[in-house]
Amino acid sequence: HGLQRSLIQRGARKGDLISRMVMDPALRLDPFPAYEELRGRGVISANDLISASVDHAVCNEVLRSDAFGTAGGQGELPKPLQWLHHKVIDPDTLGPVDPPSMLAVDPPLHTRYRKQVARAFTARKVGRMGDRVSDVAGDLLDDLAGVEDFDLVERYASQLPVTVIADLLGVPEHDRGRLLALGNEAAVTLDPGLSWRQFRRAEVALREMHTWFRGHVERLREDPGDDLISQLILLDGPDRLDPVELHQVGLLVLAAGFETTVNLIGNAVAMLDGHPDQLRFLQENPDGWGNAVDEVLRHQSPVQLTLRIALRRTEVAGKVFEPGHGILLYLGGANRDPAVFANPAAFDVTRANADQHLAFSAGVHFCLGASLARLEAAVALRALYERHPDLHVAGRAERRGTRVLRGFERLPVRTTARV
Ligand code: HEM
Repeated sequence: HGLQRSLIQRGARKGDLISRMVMDPALRLDPFPAYEELRGRGVISANDLISASVDHAVCNEVLRSDAFGTAGGQGELPKPLQWLHHKVIDPDTLGPVDPPSMLAVDPPLHTRYRKQVARAFTARKVGRMGDRVSDVAGDLLDDLAGVEDFDLVERYASQLPVTVIADLLGVPEHDRGRLLALGNEAAVTLDPGLSWRQFRRAEVALREMHTWFRGHVERLREDPGDDLISQLILLDGPDRLDPVELHQVGLLVLAAGFETTVNLIGNAVAMLDGHPDQLRFLQENPDGWGNAVDEVLRHQSPVQLTLRIALRRTEVAGKVFEPGHGILLYLGGANRDPAVFANPAAFDVTRANADQHLAFSAGVHFCLGASLARLEAAVALRALYERHPDLHVAGRAERRGTRVLRGFERLPVRTTARV
């Protein structure tokens, strides 16, 4: 994020639309009107360092193009940005998407990491997780039996993904709550335009996460289990990850699993609360939950934006990118592009092409957990409304104040009917 932050702060002028999108606090809560100001304009450049787009075609092309990358790997960075690597970076303050995180490096290094981690996410393994997801959802709902008012995020939406990822990474039960809290505090480091003060606050959480993870790896080295981290530790041969790589890969999966699916489930409950007819339709047609999850991903994308940097001279939508020029890709804006989605502002769980969204990105960094996230959300929502058919939002919902992640901090709900 140091790279992204510096790039954007150096690149954007105060007052222009791109700077506003990066800096204006109001747009954290509701970025959608700003997307419409950029709509239909292809690539919009703030200056010779940074551009942005909300066009589905542009975002899709850039994400799939090998002329662009995340450019975090040492030595892969184009000349104009190489000075950034001379900064002394304290490894204990690296965020989950900082290099050498898989998300921050380009092929061929990326290909090597991805191959190892992908072993944990094969269709067969994810399919097998389905039963575990249903059991966890059932247990959480049992714990809520008789409770009429609760915070959906705290008691349900966050607990389910945390348990699933913690299982995957071999995290002991007593550490899960603390890690969830740390992940929340550190999530702000994903945002561009972060102030030094915000970073210093998140840094405390990042340091604690690193210390915990180091101890976790040591424990698994002594006593390996059948989790992903143990598999990576035991790996031999040329693809073996070094300790720093292993550390960053583990933190990324932990953060990706903790910080995103919770938002998807919360966003779904909030949207269905505003569209009771569509909730009724799903209650009568439970096969529709899969498509409904894609519509929530499209309409309320849990990851609103990402960044790519031109690795060589290239052209997109008539704009020439010199090496080092960055482009902010507003996935949440692309997902409301009328060129792809009819009546895009409308929420419609039966939308035929909802799954054409870019909420999981595209190209080599396409979300590795996409099928797991879809499965978790569909199972969680169906089980929730089966057990609590009259569940509704009751009280003041609070959004998370982050720009990249879109979701709720608190979503108070009430339920009285029992099944
Ligand atoms: C990458 C979204 C859940 C693991 C990504 C990216 C997006 C994304 C947009 C790519 C960013 C970019 O291209 O710059 C989401 C959303 C989720 C979700 C919206 C839930 C609703 C998960 C889960 C896991 C996961 C549950 C793991 C268990 C990853 C990993 C990457 C990734 C490892 C990096 C892939 C790579 O660099 O090759 N995710 N994600 N995600 N996600 Fe997810």
